[in-house]
Amino acid sequence: MPPFFNSRMFHFLLKVHLLLLCTAVSTAIATPVGMTYNPSTSKLLLPDHVSSSIQSLHFPVVRLLDPTPLSIRAFAYTNITLLLSISNHLIPSFAANRSAASIWLYSHVLPYHPRTHFSLISVGSDVISSANNDITIDPYAVLPAMRNLYLSLHELGIRTISVSTTFSFMNIMTSSFPPSSAEFQDPVNSMIIRPLLQFLDETNSSFLINIYPYNVYRIKSEIPIGYALFQENPHNFRDDIITGVRYRNLFDMMVDAVIAAMAVTGHENIPLIVTETGWPSTRNNEAQTEANRNYAEMYLKGLMMHLRSGMGTPLRKEGVAEAYIYQLFDEDEKNIEYSSGSIDSRSMHGGQNWGIMYDNMSMKYKIDFSHSERFFGKDKELVEMVLGLHLLVVAVLLLQ
Ligand SMILES: *[C@@H]1O[C@H](CO)[C@@H](O)[C@H](O)[C@H]1NC(C)=O
Ligand SMILES: *[C@@H]1O[C@H](CO)[C@@H](O)[C@H](O)[C@H]1NC(C)=O
Ligand SMILES: *[C@@H]1O[C@H](CO)[C@@H](O)[C@H](O)[C@H]1NC(C)=O
Ligand SMILES: *[C@@H]1O[C@H](CO)[C@@H](O)[C@H](O)[C@H]1NC(C)=O
Repeated sequence: MPPFFNSRMFHFLLKVHLLLLCTAVSTAIATPVGMTYNPSTSKLLLPDHVSSSIQSLHFPVVRLLDPTPLSIRAFAYTNITLLLSISNHLIPSFAANRSAASIWLYSHVLPYHPRTHFSLISVGSDVISSANNDITIDPYAVLPAMRNLYLSLHELGIRTISVSTTFSFMNIMTSSFPPSSAEFQDPVNSMIIRPLLQFLDETNSSFLINIYPYNVYRIKSEIPIGYALFQENPHNFRDDIITGVRYRNLFDMMVDAVIAAMAVTGHENIPLIVTETGWPSTRNNEAQTEANRNYAEMYLKGLMMHLRSGMGTPLRKEGVAEAYIYQLFDEDEKNIEYSSGSIDSRSMHGGQNWGIMYDNMSMKYKIDFSHSERFFGKDKELVEMVLGLHLLVVAVLLLQ
């Protein structure tokens, strides 16, 4: 017997084998990526047609802004799971009276559940900044409104739908540099976010946040554009000097800033859902040269590739639980003021085009959004390689 086929060699091979097996298994979890669709700002299109179009693009999840019963029905008998984001204007009535929440559930959820799949209902969106513009919205009403909706769901015997609300990165974070030192802004942190995180923890729900690297890039001129656009480049990195972790894109850095801020409050294990992200394809003034189709396509391609890889972020191995691209169609400017899209996408860049589709439902970009097929293809190769190595190990063992 050749001397190098000894038991140490065998154990080494076994270790490599197990390591590869672990890699094959852990890469299998890609982040589901979906679309944001606002049925009330694309009134000319029938929700049924839009739903077919979304199915043909193979999106597993869809976020409906200000959902109408008709748009919810359009997703029945599909394999698409919905995240409903309800208008801020419903918050005061939900908070004041649980029966208002029940009435809403009777018209929007009960007739369609479980033929339409629902994962979560967001009670309002970006209430912190909306409150500055709209005195009728009291941010302190959000948690009571969420509680009432949660209790109404339970009264109806529905325990599979979570309840949360949506924040905007720019409106709740102090700073994201370095991510490990990030915190939520006060007084929003102690008055609103902490009690909210407690509720999310108790009810197994998720923290929802809109993340736009585009906005951070625009206020921090020292950031290279490639770092915001997921471009692999030896110079596109930032080190977190406290944790010693290296970041290769701005998106991960922003996600980890939120994770670090949650950890400060003692709730670092709550799943994180990116409810909006995207890049505008046209500018509304001369200065916004980065708002163009080329960059928008680069951002979305980079995002898809990154989330499909299942690599996660340095502070959270499994990465974000879901991410939703903002958005399916460009918004008509005259409708923007009624939209519940976040301040990040609306007031700061009103009139810019964030849609991935034209009104005639043809795609603006050449991007493959179907992430399962190709991903499992790559994974199959890895599994085959592991099996091959397994055979080798067995052969070596038999030779001994
Ligand atoms: C939903 O998924 C199941 C299982 O993967 C499949 O059999 C079914 O055809 C799908 N339905 C639709 C409408 O795509
Ligand atoms: C709550 O709403 C129901 C039905 O609309 C109404 O009968 C009831 O009086 C309301 N309760 C309060 C405290 O406003
Ligand atoms: C949350 O999840 C844990 C573990 O899966 C379970 O034991 C608990 O009952 C759940 N709580 C609620 C409120 O669903
Ligand atoms: C859809 O609209 C876009 C923009 O108006 C146009 O460029 C494209 O050719 C149209 N596609 C079809 C199939 O009509």
